[in-house]
Amino acid sequence: MDCCIVSALWCLIPLYLLIHFLFFIFGDADFTLLWASLFGHRPEKKLKGLVVWITGASSGIGEELAYQLAKCGSRLILSARREDELNRVKRCCLERYGLQDEDILVLPLDLLERTSHEEKTKTVIQHFGHIDILINNGGRTQRSLCVETSLDVYQALIELNYLGTISLTKQVLPYMTQKGTGSIVTVNSISGLAGTPLATGYSASKHALQGFFNSLRTELTDFPNILISSVCPGPVQSEIVHNAFTEELNKSVAVAGNQEHKMSTSRCVHLMLVGISNGVKEMWITHQPFLMFCYMWQYTPTFAWFITNLLGRKRVQNFKAGLDADSSYFRKPKTY
Ligand SMILES: NC(=O)c1ccc[n+]([C@@H]2O[C@H](COP(=O)([O-])OP(=O)(O)OC[C@H]3O[C@@H](n4cnc5c(N)ncnc54)[C@H](OP(=O)(O)O)[C@@H]3O)[C@@H](O)[C@H]2O)c1
Repeated sequence: MDCCIVSALWCLIPLYLLIHFLFFIFGDADFTLLWASLFGHRPEKKLKGLVVWITGASSGIGEELAYQLAKCGSRLILSARREDELNRVKRCCLERYGLQDEDILVLPLDLLERTSHEEKTKTVIQHFGHIDILINNGGRTQRSLCVETSLDVYQALIELNYLGTISLTKQVLPYMTQKGTGSIVTVNSISGLAGTPLATGYSASKHALQGFFNSLRTELTDFPNILISSVCPGPVQSEIVHNAFTEELNKSVAVAGNQEHKMSTSRCVHLMLVGISNGVKEMWITHQPFLMFCYMWQYTPTFAWFITNLLGRKRVQNFKAGLDADSSYFRKPKTY
């Protein structure tokens, strides 16, 4: 009998490894998140009725978050600078998902205006009474070589992506510690895990966020029901390249490039919501070869440098050829 159990276990190990290998080759997220998406809690059950504050809700990932959360029945606060775009997103949510007008608060907010964040947070509390989830999503990237980039751009990236995010988090956190529950979810990037050429300042701001939230999470061990989660997507379809900083503060990107090769916004957001519903602390959401890249940075950093240099060289070549820097690494980039 014992012998049969041992033999069965020996057969299961290769099967287990094969499943993980296939997950790795064809997956678009880390193992924890993929297992959660197969066997974990469903977002529509866990997020129904929760009050979720989304920054950067006027386009891209934030806009899609609003739609998928509205579909789950969450109540929303939509923030970004462009009020007209936020109203458009709100209208779409109401039309498509049958929420009531008072379930969605449009709250224009500039992450750079840190002195306004206390007042904005009070407005949310007055409207909903509490905040269940803050999704720190607003931010901008960078497309420029370090040697050509003004220091003002580096300052702006830190002010927006890092200090703006921390400022709002610091306003919201006391309401969560008082209640003993809540989630602070920050949209980081795989550029926050490893270096990214043409985005030295962006990558630095995201690394800073990673350090901040990893430290905050351990500081909050007395609050086991407060989730601090970092989401690290690879390239995702959005307006991010169009809105990127370049060499100078007021210079915009010349070519945003084709976005088709990037992960769809809806898939990225679906995985994010799965992660939030299942209390995942760090999520890697990306196709190959970027997924392999994340694993190598985590487990084999020396080898990761070799791959980083290959991908990095291609990125800089794309940029210098006037293409989107993220144009496919293994196929001939589309120029259309
Ligand atoms: N797309 C990707 O490939 C990718 C990959 C990894 C990580 N991310 C991260 O995902 C997040 C969302 O980016 P996205 O891809 O959805 O890009 P996006 O379409 O450009 O959206 C960025 C959002 O940030 C808001 N924003 C910009 N400056 C702001 C400010 N000063 N104050 C308040 N809000 C501001 C924008 O709204 P307003 O202009 O109306 O203010 C917009 O809603 C970012 O944190 C980005 O770093 C994106």
